[in-house]
Formats: sequence, structure tokens, C-alpha cells
Amino acid sequence: MRDALPYVLILYYSRYGATRTMAEQLAAGVESCPGIEARLRTVPPVSPTCEAVDPEIPAEGAVYASLDDLRHCAGLALGSPTRFGNMAAPLKHFVDGTSELWLGGALIDKPATAFTSTASLHGGQETTLLSMLLPLLHHGMVYAGIPYSETALMTTAGGGTPYGASHLAGQRSDRVVTDEERQLIRAQGLRLARLALSLRHLQERS
Ligand SMILES: Cc1cc2nc3c(=O)[nH]c(=O)nc-3n(C[C@H](O)[C@H](O)[C@H](O)COP(=O)(O)O)c2cc1C
Repeated sequence: MRDALPYVLILYYSRYGATRTMAEQLAAGVESCPGIEARLRTVPPVSPTCEAVDPEIPAEGAVYASLDDLRHCAGLALGSPTRFGNMAAPLKHFVDGTSELWLGGALIDKPATAFTSTASLHGGQETTLLSMLLPLLHHGMVYAGIPYSETALMTTAGGGTPYGASHLAGQRSDRVVTDEERQLIRAQGLRLARLALSLRHLQERS
């Protein structure tokens, strides 16, 4: 049997679809790098009713992430809509359940990045991305944003930041991803994939 390819885990939450679209574009960036694949996973919504349990398999889209998806990834891209300038609760809830991986140092020296979507241009893209960086650093991951060699960072009139890709979805979530936003998120995926392959020898030592 052929050895399975290493994969970048693209772990996102999306209520209205914008972050999901970004996740798919980031996956295309990852898969433009030979020798590694993208694994798209989502998380269930959280409910005010403690007893509420979602079906194990969502009705559509990516399946729910398991801790093992995260444990065995070669790199991680975390995606969330902005919620009051912060990551969305369902994603935070999943992240808060990763103590077992933290205790075992499972993510140390793996590259990670983040992406987000907002309704308004100044509604907290950067703060959300920085909030997502914090748990990644606690896990010992190596954070990779987007370098300014990606010239769309200078010219974009929508999303796109050095902290990670972003998309301005608009108040009605009806703005399509612009060419520059797409360019940046693909570049982010490709960069993460390359870093994941280059840092693998660090992960194999443990
Ligand atoms: C509870 C809540 C809080 C939000 N907070 C913000 C915010 O602080 N800034 C902003 O620009 N958009 C905010 N939004 C809008 C979402 O970030 C935006 O619609 C995003 O594109 C949704 O992504 P999705 O389509 O992947 O669900 C908020 C939406 C909700 C439901």
C-alpha cells in the first residue's frame, strides 16, 4: 500500500458560506504544491441548550474535525468569521477541547495560519486573525502570515492582511471574493504547504 500523503488541515467554521469559500480557495493553494494534500474539516455550531447534539455528519459540506485530524496534520489553517472582533464560538469551542494534544506536544513545530471573513472592512479582520494566533502559539506551532512579496497586499481594496487572508463579505454576505483576496488566500495556502513539507523533519524527531 502506498504511504498516505501528508496533509494540511483546513479547519474552519462558516455560518453563511464566506469562510467556507475561502477554505476551498486555500485548499486549492495547498494542492498546487506537489507532495501534500488539503483536508477540509469544519466544526458543529454551539447551542445554548447544553443537551443539544448535532448529527455526527453534517447535511452538506466538509465533515466535522476530530482530534486525530489535528494530531496528524503537517500544517494547520484555521478559518473563522469575525464575531465581535474575535473568532466564532464554535471554533473556539473545538480549540478549547485540544488540551490532550497540548499536553502531548502534538502540534509543536508545525506551521499554522489563519483566515477570516467580515461584514465590514474595519470590523475586526486583524483582531480576529490575531485572536486565532494565540492558541496556535500555545500549542507551539510556527505561525506564518502572508509576506509583502505578495504585491496584492499593497493594492487590495478589500480583504488581505499580512496576518492572514481575509474577505470583505459585506452586510448581506453578497460580495464575491475579489481577485486580490483570492490571490492572497491561494498564496497563503501554497506557503503553508511548502512550510509543512520543509518542517516535517522537525516533527519526525519526536
Ligand atoms: C454574532 C455575530 C457577530 C459579528 N461580528 C462582526 C464584527 O465584529 N465585524 C464584522 O465586520 N462582521 C461581524 N459579523 C459578520 C460576519 O463576520 C460576516 O457576515 C462573515 O462574513 C460571516 O462569515 P460566514 O459566511 O463564513 O459565516 C458578525 C456576525 C455575527 C453573526
